[in-house]
Amino acid sequence: MTRRYAGLIAVDSVDMQVMPGGIHAVIGPNGAGKTTLFNLVSGLVPPSAGQIRFAGQDVTRLPANRRAALGLARTFQNIRVFAAMTVLENALTGLHARLASNLPSVVLRLPAFRAEERRAVARARAALDLVGLADKAGQRAQALSYGDQRRLEIARAIAPEPRLLLLDEPAAGMNPAETAALAVLVRRLSGLGTTVLLVEHDMGFVMDISDRVTVLNFGRRIFEGAPHDVRQEPAVIEAYLGHKVAARLAAGARAGMRGA
Ligand SMILES: Nc1ncnc2c1ncn2[C@@H]1O[C@H](COP(=O)(O)OP(=O)(O)O)[C@@H](O)[C@H]1O
Ligand SMILES: [Mg+2]
Repeated sequence: MTRRYAGLIAVDSVDMQVMPGGIHAVIGPNGAGKTTLFNLVSGLVPPSAGQIRFAGQDVTRLPANRRAALGLARTFQNIRVFAAMTVLENALTGLHARLASNLPSVVLRLPAFRAEERRAVARARAALDLVGLADKAGQRAQALSYGDQRRLEIARAIAPEPRLLLLDEPAAGMNPAETAALAVLVRRLSGLGTTVLLVEHDMGFVMDISDRVTVLNFGRRIFEGAPHDVRQEPAVIEAYLGHKVAARLAAGARAGMRGA
């Protein structure tokens, strides 16, 4: 995929494959194109060139809501909870794209709609239970701690039981305890069969939970491999630390030094 903006190429001929059932991380310095890549996959912006296939289907021209209906869900880099709504209501908003009822049955609250509403509430509660917010379902979202608000966004995304979940910097702003709990949650979701694609700057978190890592720099894919291989890759170290530091680290490693 390629995505151009006036004067720059945010994502430049990036070719990648996300395997079902895995936890796949995308890393890279600020401005590398990670969020744009997520916007392309989720259908928020169209690609300038290229193709996106999801679950065996070409979805390049499908709008975001149609991709969501196929089982694609995401969270955003910046918190997007409805502060004045309750935790449960926030989780329910993740299911609106899926509600099948037509307008008359919603307005008149016909039995079919009420049954559907009950199912939606049950799903939303199950999602809150998974992220550990079941006991806060009745509170206003604004009363939640920062870490809990991020968990609420994940609950909203997983309520429709997506096949693929995109998490854009889920650990950003979290303290170490919240980040550790997030790792447990992401692993649990993966264990339940949800494929996870995530962007994250916390390298400890990335190396700990991912089985595959793609590295972007200036819109290009500069490396992809297992976490262990990424850590040792000179091109990756250089992208993060700059040429001089990378050279000094390499020299230090040759001299048998530790740390830097
Ligand atoms: N809507 C947009 N209009 C113009 N430039 C954009 C837009 N979105 C992103 N960019 C640019 O594309 C590049 C990649 O941005 P982004 O995907 O947000 O990077 P990352 O998430 O890796 O930090 C940046 O240079 C950014 O300024
Ligand atoms: Mg970003």
